[in-house]
Amino acid sequence: MKKFLKWTGITLLGLVLLVLLASWILASKFNNEFEKVYTLTPAPVAIPTDSASIERGRTLSVGCRNCHDVDMGGKVFFDDPNIGVLPSSNLTRAKDSETEGYTDEDFVRALRHGLNKKGNPLMVMPSEAITHLSDQDLGCLIAFIKSLPPIERTFPKRHFTYMSQVMAGAGLFGNLFAYNVIDHEGAKNITAPPIGNSIEYGAYVARFDGCKICHGANFGGGKSPDPVSPPPPDITKSGNPGKWTLEQFISTFRTGKTPEGKVLDGKFMPFAGIAALSDVEIEGLYNYIQSLPAANPAGNKIAEK
Ligand code: HEC
Ligand code: HEC
Repeated sequence: MKKFLKWTGITLLGLVLLVLLASWILASKFNNEFEKVYTLTPAPVAIPTDSASIERGRTLSVGCRNCHDVDMGGKVFFDDPNIGVLPSSNLTRAKDSETEGYTDEDFVRALRHGLNKKGNPLMVMPSEAITHLSDQDLGCLIAFIKSLPPIERTFPKRHFTYMSQVMAGAGLFGNLFAYNVIDHEGAKNITAPPIGNSIEYGAYVARFDGCKICHGANFGGGKSPDPVSPPPPDITKSGNPGKWTLEQFISTFRTGKTPEGKVLDGKFMPFAGIAALSDVEIEGLYNYIQSLPAANPAGNKIAEK
């Protein structure tokens, strides 16, 4: 009996050690990932200085403000006691900010390739969408950011609970680093279709605004990178938006309220960036969404709430 207890004890202890070791390996896998340094010299992008271009950049920056705050001075944009704290960077190049001393090339590296000045992969920052901006639009966006007055602001350091490090290492939050999914070779000399209501222009908007990150590769519903977000629904013909008129589609983004009466939370469904575009650009997005095949034909709805 004594011997039996002894062996049971040893086995249990072994199991506990194994679980601890496995969790430590997963946590380190995640922690090593954002300390990696990648060397990458982005293809140069011309940065304009005229006021019309800076105005275009201001429009394109509206989507950034959800995470980087309305004045682009950065904020704690994620804070959950079970998961941790993630501040977004201060983009105003203020003293002691993450972007202090950022050159044009550093901005292109961050926006097109998902790397900070030192070459560490950026977390949660959606460069896999922003990378699709044309050279011209990217130039306007950077020109606008460079025109911002410096805002000095401090926020708590990024930290994650041990449990969330283990979960991230196990891939439960999906891919957190845009760098891993960007086509780095293709991210240069990008042109956009002319601004208008064409399906091609709408597809361009959907690409740089990252609808697929949340609504899935075929827009049929997906998973948000934000672990506390409601599920992003099907936005093709088999979902609600497929049935909306153009006016209803535009009004949804401008007011944050859908024709079915649902009030969208801008924190989870970032509609402000689209609302900042002109009617004709949103019409392009509408035409593009309408052109997509139904993702979940009858009886096969995956993202019903
Ligand atoms: C979903 C939230 C989110 C959105 C939207 C977003 N960012 Fe970020 N961004 C972040 C976070 C978080 C970081 C910091 C990542 C890190 O520390 O690893 C970051 C980092 C950056 C950096 C790198 C700064 C540094 O720390 O070196 C730049 C530049 C940047 N963002 C610009 C933009 C611009 C411009 C837009 C809009 C086109 C934008 N971001 C949209 C979350 C976001
Ligand atoms: C960061 C994730 C995210 C991104 C990026 C995103 N969405 Fe969403 N979207 C959501 C979520 C989450 C909801 C559901 C919100 C809710 O249930 O309150 C939603 C809802 C919607 C709805 C309302 C659908 C309905 O049936 O009520 C539309 C339309 C929509 N999104 C279109 C888009 C388009 C177009 C894009 C790209 C330009 C986009 N979204 C980008 C997360 C996202």
